[in-house]
Amino acid sequence: MELEPAIGIIGGSGLYDLDGFSDREELEVETPFGMPSDKIVSGMFAGRRGFFLPRHGKGHRILPTELNHRANIYALRSLGGRVVIAGTAVGSLKEHYHPRDIILPDQYFDRTSRREHHTFFGKGMVAHVTFADPVSEGLRRLLLEESEKSGATVHDGGTYVCMDGPAFSTRAESNANRQLGFDVIGMTNLPEAKLAREAEMALATLAMVTDYDCWKVEEEPVTIEVVISHLMANALRAKEILARVIPRIPTVADWPEHRALENAIITDKSLWPKE
Ligand code: ADE
Repeated sequence: MELEPAIGIIGGSGLYDLDGFSDREELEVETPFGMPSDKIVSGMFAGRRGFFLPRHGKGHRILPTELNHRANIYALRSLGGRVVIAGTAVGSLKEHYHPRDIILPDQYFDRTSRREHHTFFGKGMVAHVTFADPVSEGLRRLLLEESEKSGATVHDGGTYVCMDGPAFSTRAESNANRQLGFDVIGMTNLPEAKLAREAEMALATLAMVTDYDCWKVEEEPVTIEVVISHLMANALRAKEILARVIPRIPTVADWPEHRALENAIITDKSLWPKE
């Protein structure tokens, strides 16, 4: 019988640990792609088997461009994770998304460049997964309902544009992103979403605004201090939302993302993450 799907939680800047685990253990997980960002906290969280990974490592040691996304997603999948909640800090590209608001994107736009790091396939193993709807709608809806109940200002849907970083955008880039209609900007979530889809995991982004990027000329340009200060507040909110959402995640992995490879062209599944 298939195991109840475990929940992977990726903590973004400001969320480096998660209390509330019973039977807490810290696991060092090796993968064919190398080591994940840090030890993975494992245990029961809100009544479910959960695994928490701080994306940038404890103490924020890893730049977005240095992240080993493949190792991170592979590790969570190999532990039995079939659901990923990816917490993340974002810059707002619209007037009405204020710092500390929550956005639950339903689209991503790729402005990153490390393509070979953003797939499990290659080296003879060929597959193309469908990615038109990159976010798990089942998970996104649960996050939406519980974020609203938490009292946060929540925005339902939107496009997350993913840049390489680590430098923030130029003003010209920020304005161009706005003209293209993008909603928020970040440096990490798109590769995670692609890899999660390839690994048949249902992923949704819990994005929390920390700044207005640099398009809003009446605001001070974004600084890391501003980002971190809002993130501390956002991290508290994220913990509350996680504790509410996780017990509601179905105990059978039966969302469309869990069958993503059924329609993919795939030549060899032997390197696939296995529990
Ligand atoms: N993460 C948080 N704020 C950001 C911004 N303005 N640009 C890119 N990534 C971010």
